Amino acid sequence: MAKVTVVGAGFVGATVAQYVCGQDIADVVVVDVVEGLPQGKGLDLFEASPLLGNDRKIFGTQDYADTKNSQIVVITAGIARKPGMSRDDLLKTNANIVQSVAKETHKHSPDAIFVVVTNPLDVMAYLAKQTTGLPANKVVGMAGVLDSARFQSFIAEELKMSAEDIKCMVMGGHGDLMVPLPRYSSVNGVPLTELMSTDKIEALSQRTRDGGAEIVALLKTGSAFYAPGASAALMVESILRDKRRLLPCSVLAEGQYGIKDIYIGLPVILGKNGVEKIVELKLTAEESAQLKKSAASIKENVEAMNKLLVTA
Ligand code: APR
Repeated sequence: MAKVTVVGAGFVGATVAQYVCGQDIADVVVVDVVEGLPQGKGLDLFEASPLLGNDRKIFGTQDYADTKNSQIVVITAGIARKPGMSRDDLLKTNANIVQSVAKETHKHSPDAIFVVVTNPLDVMAYLAKQTTGLPANKVVGMAGVLDSARFQSFIAEELKMSAEDIKCMVMGGHGDLMVPLPRYSSVNGVPLTELMSTDKIEALSQRTRDGGAEIVALLKTGSAFYAPGASAALMVESILRDKRRLLPCSVLAEGQYGIKDIYIGLPVILGKNGVEKIVELKLTAEESAQLKKSAASIKENVEAMNKLLVTA
């Protein structure tokens, strides 16, 4: 029986657990520092299993020993930025959380593949890789799947067509500088550029870049969790069932696209070994410049984090 540990029983973590169990992908252990929170959500999800027609086991705990021998660890633990908190404060706090969580889970599940969800995503995925010392194929960040899903939804709504037929590729960092790629987006094989004006495509690309902020502006006290949870669950499924789906994920670039030594969103084949392959697409000069700009911004953030961790 496949076993997945989800660290963080907040909005995103609980949603990942719900999809992973509900879709009969794996048994789940949920961990959180808040006493009772993962236990309560775990029990509630367990009680939903007869209604969903599966016999998945799920429970919550504070004890990392319970996570032993997981095949996958999903890290959603962290805090959201609060009013008055600087980006550096957030970076430092979440870096400390991700570092300790990665260390503990890796100790109990040395063979597990890590799927990182905590923001700032590309930096936290890099940190999880550094902390565990795992090979790069075993640490992957969730961002591009979510950003592509947002782009797909907006295109479906605009074209009045099924979202099921719409496939999108969004590369780059998980932030304002992400790079939606209309040339590699299609409706059942028909290039998006044949079906929509350039202006409309650009407007939907921009809405995608602002997708996270749009939800925060509406929720006011939290950030998105349904689509992020579903995105992480889809990655877990592709790995555990060795589906080898082609998905944009945050991965360690080792020279691909002219980028080195940072985690950034690139198209990868996701299978039983985690990142099976990074796929190199031909980019136009403009797309390539956008990707490099995004990479430079991630590099700055990694450097900022390294300084903060040294002074911690
Ligand atoms: N170990 C375990 N859990 C922790 C730790 C820790 N060291 N520190 C914090 N947590 C838990 C909190 O107790 C909380 O329950 O992480 C959970 C985070 O949940 P929420 O605050 O609801 O945040 P959520 O919306 O789930 O987002 C989590 O995912 O998409 C990203 O930007 C988002 O970084 C954020 C993360």
